[in-house]
Amino acid sequence: MPTTTAPVTEVVDRLERASLLDPVVKGLRSLTQKVLAPQGIRDALHGVWLGHPLHPVLTDVPIGAWSAAAVLDAVPGTGIGASTLIATGCAAAVPTALTGWADWSDLHGPHQRVGVIHAAANVVALGLYTASLGARMRGRRVRGKALAYAGFAAMSAGGYLGGHLVFRQGAGANHGADIPDLFPSGWHDIGRLDDLPDGKPAKRTVEGVDLLVVRRGQHVDVLSDKCSHLSGPLSDGEFTVEGGQGCIVCPWHGSTFRLADGAVRHGPATSPQHRFETRVTGGRLEVSLGGG
Ligand code: FES
Repeated sequence: MPTTTAPVTEVVDRLERASLLDPVVKGLRSLTQKVLAPQGIRDALHGVWLGHPLHPVLTDVPIGAWSAAAVLDAVPGTGIGASTLIATGCAAAVPTALTGWADWSDLHGPHQRVGVIHAAANVVALGLYTASLGARMRGRRVRGKALAYAGFAAMSAGGYLGGHLVFRQGAGANHGADIPDLFPSGWHDIGRLDDLPDGKPAKRTVEGVDLLVVRRGQHVDVLSDKCSHLSGPLSDGEFTVEGGQGCIVCPWHGSTFRLADGAVRHGPATSPQHRFETRVTGGRLEVSLGGG
């Protein structure tokens, strides 16, 4: 059966491959590395403290305020309410953009190309809404409404691209969410304990599910190998000790997870890794996700 693709999706798919955007992406990426260098700031902007990406939470404010203003602008006598909502949206757009910028800097090339246009649409929207506020303050209400509706169109285009980034390209989603569905119940043999390297990450696989295994002496930690951020292979990462606790650093974008429980120490990941229970039987290591 022939498959059909919506014309708008085809355009965005082309955007993902538009290498023309790469010089802009590169310039913005190096700017990000300078401006958002401190790990604590990056973690806060990613939403590590929240256990959820912060950007989609904040986007609700400008999108909600500007959408409500569009409704009020169609109702006579609600000019002050519309202006207040537009000002609220403009104020909220700044921290929202900062969180998006931090998330964008740790994505792959196709994400970043779409992300640049997403950001450009939102910058245009912010400019138009700011101009609309200025026009309203000067008493030019018709012009203020026209600018706000133009801003609404730009915001909608930006919102569409943001949705594409998340739902089509998987940015911000938890890439380890399906592990409990894929991993078979019960205990599973993953080989001899003594065959594992000491203090180095190793990979083992159970029925297609890759596991990160780190042995330190007789102690073993096992996490899902697929990084929750964008599926990077943690077994290719680096073992490190932070705050006295063993951690693994993802080789792709540096997310750091505590081995003891899979918790996120540093982003861009915000979802923890699944941790597996272990036991040693006759010198062989066994793992289970639920202890069944
Ligand atoms: S895939 Fe991005 S930090 Fe692991």
